[in-house]
Order: sequence, then C-alpha cells, then structure tokens
Amino acid sequence: MLKTAVLVSGGGTNLQAIIDAIENHKLKDVSIECVVSNKEDAYALRRAEDHGIPGICIKPKDYASKEEYGKYLADFLRDHEIDLVVLAGFLVVLPKNFIDAFSGRIINIHPSLIPSFCGDGFYGLKVHEAALARGVKVTGATVHFVDAGTDTGPIIMQKAVYVEDGDTPETLQKRVMEQAEWVILPAAIQMIQQKKI
Ligand code: GRF
Repeated sequence: MLKTAVLVSGGGTNLQAIIDAIENHKLKDVSIECVVSNKEDAYALRRAEDHGIPGICIKPKDYASKEEYGKYLADFLRDHEIDLVVLAGFLVVLPKNFIDAFSGRIINIHPSLIPSFCGDGFYGLKVHEAALARGVKVTGATVHFVDAGTDTGPIIMQKAVYVEDGDTPETLQKRVMEQAEWVILPAAIQMIQQKKI
C-alpha cells in the first residue's frame, strides 16, 4: 500500500479525482492517510471529511520561521508514515528542509505543459491567462517531482488539451482540469505505486 498525504489550499477537485479513483478501484493499493490544508476554510477539507479522511489545517504563519513550519510538517507526515506527498493545488512554497526530508517523494500537478507557463507567479487562472495571451493552440497539465525550484523538478506525466476559439481563462481552466489534471494525477500516483518511475 502506498500511503499518501494530499496537500491542498482550495477547492480540492484534484483531491476529489484521487478519492474517486481509489473508491472506483481504478487506483489500486494507494491510500490517502490525511489531507493537509494551509487554509481552514478550504473546501478540500470538507471533501476529505465527507470521505472519512482525516483533515488538518497547518498554517505557515503559525510558526516562527519557514524552517520551523517545514520541520513540523515533515514530522507530522513522518508520524503518519507517509510514502508520497501529493501537492494538489497547494499554494505554499515549501521550505528546503521539508523538500530535503521528503526528497523524491513529493509530486505536484501544474496546469500547463511545463516548461511553458510555469515558475514563479504562474498559478491558478494566471497560467491560463498567459496561455491565451500568447495565443498557444495547445496547452495541458503536468505532474512532476518537486525539487528546490518552482516547477523545475523531473516530469512524470503530461497531457495536452486543445485551446478552443472563444476560450476564457475560466473555460480553459475547466477543460484542462477535466481532460488533463484529473486524469494524469491519479495515473502518476499509480505509476509511482507500481514503481514504474
Ligand atoms: C489546479 O488547477 C492545479 O493544477 C493548480 O491549482 C488548481 C487547484 O484546483 N495547481 P483544485 O483545488 O484541485 O480544485
């Protein structure tokens, strides 16, 4: 069994995709041991509760330094014997001591085809606004390992999505989620569980 922790900040539709894949037996020998949010009102915590998954809010600003936050989070996840940390719409930049503690065991979903539209400042709708402003005809999503940089770690899986005439950042975001993010995040976790990567 691959024990995961899912870190979230918002709506949690990617978390929901993982929960659904596990409950539908499409994602096998994977468990979500806990959901960690940096925001207490994140709807993702409600999704966790609805599915009997322990949820907790751990806020960076409650700690004296980024390092103390990183240490607390790493100790918390070690106590839960977590094998894989999944960042699913998690908007906190994790401190180096945390990344080192879980080196090679943290993955992130990013809503573009890296290396396009990624790095500092590219999150949420801003990614899709930039894709539309550049006029790309294809975008998509990427699951990658997390290293010390922003969206710089090794790529695990990508899926392309067509941009359509008349797209707004909102319609594009929705299509990228439905056609790419919710598909490749569970698939990448399964690959890791199967030690294919
Ligand atoms: C997703 O687009 C994800 O790729 C990005 O933030 C969004 C989170 O959505 N990093 P949700 O909370 O999973 O619904």
